[in-house]
Amino acid sequence: MAAQTILFDFTLDKDKTSDEKQRLEVAKILRNELEHVFPQLELAYSMESPENGYFAVLHENKDTVITCRIFQHGLLTLNVEYFLPDGKDGISFDTMRTVELILRQKFGCDRSKYLPPIKRGGYIDIYMTSSDERIIEYDIDQVVYEARSPFQKIQIMHSKTLGNMLLLDELQNIAESDLIYTETLMCRGVENYEGKEICILGGGDGALLYELLKENPKHVVMLEIDEIVMQACNKYLSVICGDVLEKRKTDQYEIIVGDCVEYLKKFIAEGRKFDYVFGDLTDIPITDAPVGETWDFIRTIFEHSFKVLKPGGKYLTHGNGSTCKVQLRLFEEQLDLLRPKVKYTTTKAFVPSFMEEWLFYQVTFA
Ligand SMILES: C[S@@+](CC[C@H](N)C(=O)[O-])C[C@H]1O[C@@H](n2cnc3c(N)ncnc32)[C@H](O)[C@@H]1O
Repeated sequence: MAAQTILFDFTLDKDKTSDEKQRLEVAKILRNELEHVFPQLELAYSMESPENGYFAVLHENKDTVITCRIFQHGLLTLNVEYFLPDGKDGISFDTMRTVELILRQKFGCDRSKYLPPIKRGGYIDIYMTSSDERIIEYDIDQVVYEARSPFQKIQIMHSKTLGNMLLLDELQNIAESDLIYTETLMCRGVENYEGKEICILGGGDGALLYELLKENPKHVVMLEIDEIVMQACNKYLSVICGDVLEKRKTDQYEIIVGDCVEYLKKFIAEGRKFDYVFGDLTDIPITDAPVGETWDFIRTIFEHSFKVLKPGGKYLTHGNGSTCKVQLRLFEEQLDLLRPKVKYTTTKAFVPSFMEEWLFYQVTFA
């Protein structure tokens, strides 16, 4: 059950839309053509002005509503919207693509676009936004798990191509398809974890812990605030986390449930040090200035993490989508502020469930 919104646009010769008479002529062609698909079409409202061009609302049985605008600059937009109950088929792709091609021919234009239905208001949300604010449509067919912890909304969705996906506060975090994310974060094949002491900040999906344990480290401590994230991932994301979230303590690792900042403070007080610290926490916020709660949190994490790193140690973390140049520069500026000074390298990977390339940082003392 969802509202379906189908969008078309056509780029017409400007001469065909520059005055009222011509715009009405274009509107007539449009209506004649639409009547082949919507035989009961009625005009509910229309408006024409030299500044804003032509605007009309049409409907069929008040069920399908079509809005049309003809701008004087040569652009025509058409939005078709109707409600689709569960189990019913909407207007087919072929039908609407044919409408587009016929209209293109009748308008004598060589540029148009037809966007298949955007499904709005359905129980399963299939749209997410990339880090550079593009709409991404997922092939999600099932909500596997949903809960609200004291910290966040937790969902496991099933995608036909990506497998189970973890969403936190409606943002994609990791999916069964994303081994490359974890391998790029840990620089697999480049870093040698054998016999090393490692601290993971966050990482509640368990994937990083699972992959690190395959490299024979001396010990890994993971500081994750949300017990419910771990329970959900243990049950539904074992493809990427194995059984590491089953136990909280073994000879090889310990998972501590709590705020990583508090535990970092404790480690600093105790003089506990690590060869590697992983920031597997919240993403860098998409903002134009490094202000606000999340940026404060990032700065706190940096300051505390470098205090628990051994002299030759490394801080490894994910950055953001590689096209988010402004946010990545702000992130690097925060690193540049650190004392003692640090230096960093970056790696990139195309992460399947993000449907975009992501940047990762490897930071050491300068
Ligand atoms: C699941 S990982 C997400 C990393 C992921 N791979 C991504 O795409 O960004 C983030 C985890 O950090 C945890 N987290 C957030 N703030 C935290 C804090 N202050 N202390 C410990 N864990 C925290 C969240 O509960 C979450 O499980």
